[in-house]
This record gives sequence, structure tokens and C-alpha cells, in this order.
Amino acid sequence: MRDGYLMHGGDYNPEQWLDMPEVFDTDIERFREAKINTVTLGVFSWSKLEPKDGEYHFEWLEAIIDRLYANGISVILATPSGARPHWLADRYPEVLRVNEKRQRMLFGTRHNHCMTSPAYREKVRQIDTRLAARFGAHPAVKLWHISNEYGGECHCPLCQKAFQGWLERKYGTVQALNDAWCTAFWSHTYDSFSQVESPSSIGEYSIMGLSLDWKRFVSDQTVDFMEQEIAAIRAAGSDKPTVVNMMYYFGGIDYFRMAKKVDAVSWDNYPAWDKRERKETAQRTAFWHDVIRSLKKKPFLMMESCPGATNWQGVSRLKRPGLVRAASLQSIAHGADGALYFQMRKSRGGEEKFHGAVLDHYDGNDTRIFREVCETGDMLERLGRVSGAGTKAEAAVLYDWENLWAMEGSWGPRNEGMRRLSLECASGAYRALRRLGMNVDFADQSCALDGYKLVTAPMQYLFHEGFAERVRSFVEKGGIFVMTYWSGVVDENDRCFLGGTPHGLMDVFGLRSEELDALYDWEENEICLAKDGLTGMRERYPVKYFCDLVKPKTAETLMVYGKDFYAGQPALLHNSYGSGSAWYLCAGACQEFYDDLYRKLAKEAGLSGILPGEIPDGVEVTSRETEEYTFIFAQNFSEGSVSLALPDGEMLYGSADGTLEPLGGLVLAVKK
Ligand code: GLA
Ligand code: ZN
Repeated sequence: MRDGYLMHGGDYNPEQWLDMPEVFDTDIERFREAKINTVTLGVFSWSKLEPKDGEYHFEWLEAIIDRLYANGISVILATPSGARPHWLADRYPEVLRVNEKRQRMLFGTRHNHCMTSPAYREKVRQIDTRLAARFGAHPAVKLWHISNEYGGECHCPLCQKAFQGWLERKYGTVQALNDAWCTAFWSHTYDSFSQVESPSSIGEYSIMGLSLDWKRFVSDQTVDFMEQEIAAIRAAGSDKPTVVNMMYYFGGIDYFRMAKKVDAVSWDNYPAWDKRERKETAQRTAFWHDVIRSLKKKPFLMMESCPGATNWQGVSRLKRPGLVRAASLQSIAHGADGALYFQMRKSRGGEEKFHGAVLDHYDGNDTRIFREVCETGDMLERLGRVSGAGTKAEAAVLYDWENLWAMEGSWGPRNEGMRRLSLECASGAYRALRRLGMNVDFADQSCALDGYKLVTAPMQYLFHEGFAERVRSFVEKGGIFVMTYWSGVVDENDRCFLGGTPHGLMDVFGLRSEELDALYDWEENEICLAKDGLTGMRERYPVKYFCDLVKPKTAETLMVYGKDFYAGQPALLHNSYGSGSAWYLCAGACQEFYDDLYRKLAKEAGLSGILPGEIPDGVEVTSRETEEYTFIFAQNFSEGSVSLALPDGEMLYGSADGTLEPLGGLVLAVKK
């Protein structure tokens, strides 16, 4: 996939301009000028590729691919399943989705098809096979882009049947399903699998086991659909790698599972830059870059990003000068092998006619955006050596889709903003580690933890089977594990664990959680040092959202609550177990607390940052490695200029003395 260069380019829709061939001539000229080396074709081209059922017209696409190739531009070729033509919905109405209120949607928009429908699957198989047979060996085609931003769900009769079959395969008997879902509650016992309906606001939405399994089914069904697309490509004889584009903080698909079925992952990066402080947006983006990179633990692609302003955000601010380059560099810094845009050329009409693009309606090369894209092209060209380099991390943060589903869906001590709060909790740890200048991985509960020195488990409410054992052995062997409140509460079916929580780990943490107080957003408690000796921590920190009241057994209490009826009770505890150490944080802490705690723990774990010393606020430092080199990336997302002390090395990009102006960046190659 990577041939010693970083990909630069993006989504390109020349099928919208077939009646104006001169536009294509201009495009090629501009692409060459901006060092565009890759474009994504065909994402929504179905109606031009198959204008009538069974009537295929690929000649226009072939001419375009050939011409791009002759100009040194590679192609990421998409399967067109993200949006189907009108005739297809008319002829096979079953392809249209049914919403949770059981209403069939009309033809319209995109991503509006049933993932179960045999007719849709067959039509997709046919066109994918033909595309692969025709273009699968074309030297310009580097990658298969499978569909586009898979997501959404369908509640049609076909999906209901498929769901029932999925449940039957999972549980075997309806009795086992009833047990798993605790359906004796409110007399919801099922007599047969055929009675089970997907969750609905006009029907059953009170069984959490059902909702959780439905989410798993939707995720699995989507992945299965994707696998069928890949199978069609392979059956037609193309062995080019496949890639799927994922979305920003998307909850609907278990991306760890999806990633296993595809050669490479990518994501579409549209932060609302300049809505918040820039460094805040940069940190949120960094978090998701690292989640995506961690899915396969190898280089990914930033498949889309906007070179200008989007047209769908509430308010779309112009990208400030320097941001296109900075956002592109940030993706490479976090492990991407390509920084691509949506879109190469603004469409003339349709919903996205005002969405930022490399080329706008004016068409000239003397626009600010085009100039910035050219500068980005220069930068990426200089960084070609980085392609294929991996990222090594010694610390990991848990991010588990099923846990998020369960926590969000379950009624409990707090029902507002559970997803937001758990992300805040994860990002507190993530940011603290990043501020120490370390690369950070993400892992879900099924990932191997060996190899990390420090792992943090924010709000792992649901424990997968086998997870507690993995944590135990990680700590036993010398790892440092930090867990928070609201962890190990329920099993994979959202059934409460009996006999105390955190389930299976009470001896590892040396405590039992007894009650959880939930606070309103405007409330605060505080946690204070319990005694002298906890070096590196302040006397007190404010805490919010949750206060876990625990009963220590062997754990040592290091901090206690400062207020309320539980003032003086443990709030931060430590337990030695095997050769490792287990930390338990009882309350929703502030960033200062996370910073201080993780500084201390990193020292204990012998972790050091990429550069000596802590990273100035708003600066991002990461590294990528090959056998011979470590590439150090530094970027300044703060408002003032900063100066970094750097080791000796070859400066591939940026100022040699380590000075970074706002939005500036540097890349240093250090020989190992
Ligand atoms: C998504 C889609 C693109 C385009 C962009 C606009 O990421 O994949 O087709 O609609 O949004 O921002
Ligand atoms: Zn359906």
C-alpha cells in the first residue's frame, strides 16, 4: 500500500462533469501543481456506472483512471454501495430502510439501504465484481475503498428475521435468552425467538439485554455486509488491499471488530476548528487519530478532511491560514500514511456545493486554499520517508464499544451524558499521558495488554468474559493498572454481577465498591490527601459527576473525600498485587489531578517521554519508528510561540532550532 510516499489527494467526482471535459483537463493540471498523488473515485457513482439494471458503463471511469495514471496519480477505487440509484429502489423496494417506528423510508439521500436485503446484497455483489474484474489489476488502483462511512440501522421484516436467527445462533434456546436478558422482570418472558422484535420507542425498549444484542447485531450485520463486498472483489481476482472509512467518535459500529476484516482503516476528520480553543480541538482530534491507529496498530489514512470550511456544521468557520497543513501533519504525526481531503472539486449543485474543496467554482489556482493545499503537498512530499513507520506506545487507555453501549443504555445512578462523561474520563488520562510526551494506544477489553507498562480503565461498567483475568495477570506480572468508579458492574448482557464489584478484581484492587453517588453537573466535592507521603500530589482537587464509596480491604487509602456525609472516606486507593500495582480512582477528577497522578505513575513505571521534560501546553509531540529511525513530530496548537529542546537529527520539516510558531510543526529524523 505504501510505496515510500505519503498519500495526498482526496474524494474526486468527475462523473458530475462528464459533459464538460475541459474541467477534467484543468483538474489534472491543478492536481499536478498541488502534488496530488492520489484520488478516491467512485464513492457515489452508481447511477453513472449502472444507469439501468444490469447495464454497465465503465468506459468513462476507465478513461479517467488511465489519464490520471498517465499523470502519475494513483486511485483509491470505491465500491458504490453508499448510495444506490433510483431504479434500484423502485425495482427492489426491500432495499429501503425501515426506521425504528416501523416506517419504510422513501427513496432519497444516501446510506439509506437495508444491510440484510438479499436484493441489495446481490446488486452490490454484481457491481463490485464487475468493477474488480475491470479495474482490479489496473496499475493506478492502489486500494479498494469499501462503500462509504457505513452506519445506521434498519428494522424491516428481513432484518427482524436475521436478528432472530442471530439470537438463536447465539443462545440456542429461548430459555437461555430469557436468562441472559432477565426477562422475568415485568413479565417480559419470550416464548419463542420469533416473538423478539428490535427495540422500538413504540414497543420494547426496556430490556437492556435486547438493546445491547441489537447493537451487536447491527454492528455485525454491517461488518458482514462489508465482508461480502470484499469477497466479491476477491472472487473477481483482485488482491489489492481494502480500506474502510470510519467516522469521528462514531458509536454505531464496533470499530475494533470491523477493523479485523479489512486491510487498513481510515477516518474522516472534520473537527470544528476555532469553535473552541484550538489546542482543545487539537487534543480531541489527537484522541481519535490514536483510537483509529490502535484499531490495527499500523498506519492508517486520514481519508477525508476539509481543505476549507464545511457546509454542514452549525457555523462553518473558515480554516485559518496554516490549518490545512497543521491538520494534515497531525494525522501523519499520529500514524497516518496519507492526508486526504473531501473534496477535490466543489460540485456545482446538490447538498455539498458549498463544502470546502481543493478547487472551488472559480476554478483558478490563485486562491488561498489552493495555495495552502500546494504547501501541504510540498510538506508531505518531504516526509515521504515516514510512510510505513509504526507507532510504539507503552501506555494504553481502554475504549470499548460494547461498554459504551451498555453504559449509555442502562438506567442507573446517572442517566444524563454518560457517554460524554466516560469520554471525559478517558481523555483525562489520555491527555495527562500525552502531556508527558508519550505515544498512547487505545485498546478494547479483548485486546492483549502484555507489552504495556501502564493501562488505564476509565468507567468500564461492562466486563467482557475473560477481561478480569487479563487485568489480574497484567498486574500480577508487574503492570500498573488504573481503574475508575463504575467498573466491573455488569456482565456482557447487562446483568449485575453478584457478590460485589468490581467483579473478579476486588482482591486485585483490595477493595469493594459499595455505593455510587451521582452529582449534578453544577455540583462538586473534593478529594484531599489522606496523609503525608503521597509525593507529587496537591493537598486537594475538586471532583465532579460521581463519587464511589468503597470499602478498602488490603488497599491503602491515599486520598479521601473532603465534603458531604462521606467526607473522610477513601477516594484514591492503591493496592500492591503480584509484582504490579492497582490504583482505584473513586471520583470524576479534573485535568490537574490526572496530570499529577499520571506523572507520578509514569515515573513509577519507568516511562519516559519522546522528548526530555514535559510538553508545553498546546504542543503535541509524537513519534513513529522504522528499524533505523525514530521520526519525532512536534506541533504547536497554542496561541504563542514555543521553543523545544531537540535531540540531534536530520530536520525533515520545520525550523532547525526547535522554535514553533502558532500552527507550526517540525519533523526530525533521529538515527537509532
Ligand atoms: C462525509 C462523507 C463525504 C462528505 C463529507 C462532507 O465524511 O463521507 O461524502 O459528505 O462527509 O463533510
Ligand atoms: Zn432491513
